[in-house]
Amino acid sequence: MEHSEDAGVFRLNDGTLLVQTADFITPVVDDPFMYGRIAAANSLSDIYAMGGKAVCCLNLVCYDSCNIEARELRSILMGGLDAVKEAGAVIAGGHTVDDPEMKFGLSVTGIVEEKHLTRNNNAKPGDRLILTKPLGMGILTTANKVDMASEKTMETAARIMGMLNQGAAAAMNETGAHSATDITGFGLIGHALEMARGSGVTFRIRTDAVPFLPEAVDLAGMGLIPAGSYNNRRFAGETVEFEKELSDDRKMIYFDAQTSGGLFISTAPENARTLLEKIRENGAGDAEIIGEVVEREEKFILFS
Ligand code: CO
Ligand code: CO
Repeated sequence: MEHSEDAGVFRLNDGTLLVQTADFITPVVDDPFMYGRIAAANSLSDIYAMGGKAVCCLNLVCYDSCNIEARELRSILMGGLDAVKEAGAVIAGGHTVDDPEMKFGLSVTGIVEEKHLTRNNNAKPGDRLILTKPLGMGILTTANKVDMASEKTMETAARIMGMLNQGAAAAMNETGAHSATDITGFGLIGHALEMARGSGVTFRIRTDAVPFLPEAVDLAGMGLIPAGSYNNRRFAGETVEFEKELSDDRKMIYFDAQTSGGLFISTAPENARTLLEKIRENGAGDAEIIGEVVEREEKFILFS
């Protein structure tokens, strides 16, 4: 817990570890099936951040039984099941409570071979940093609540949020990685900070290499920014230095709270290209090498 690790790990026997996590979220898109799929992908993600594979899941459902129709709830659960099936896992049950505010997610039990475990405190100077999904999901989903995001961009955002990080985890298993975490509520900077601090190193990130969703900067300029992203800036702002002149709207992208964001991976320089190509082949076409790890400097993250 001291390094804010993505999931709990329990040694089952020599070489095999149990990985456990739970997560649920309020709706981020209008379509119930897609919401269910995204919530499940988001819950599964912490297993992948550890280099693991999902095995068994439980549905966690909070819903307003007076106002949500049975067929809508069914669509949400079917969306979740769709993601769980793709993960090669099963749903073994779950729990439902009455709650005026809709929430859905999973508790997930996974396994990982000890040699494939990717903790979030093992980045080494010289490593390259890979991000597997574009940023801006928090801004887009906030804008969508007031109908300010275009349909086309929201479709892209929903597809990316609904995508599992399974392929990226499989690529890490195959090629090798030193450290990994998934980018969720604390944004790229918050999660990178945990990894850099835990590893005792500094991350040098190339702003132009970091992928982000279209419209995100413009919508941030209109103030369509989730409260969580402002909190991230307040919490982590002091640990970051922007060496390059950037607008505040553009900087906000790097603090933006993500839902079902990508994996952020640190890997040896000689592996980086191969790992990136495998991640892309496995479905994360927007993945990029966004920077490198250097010896510890005063600031934990430098944006050049
Ligand atoms: Co996580
Ligand atoms: Co989580």
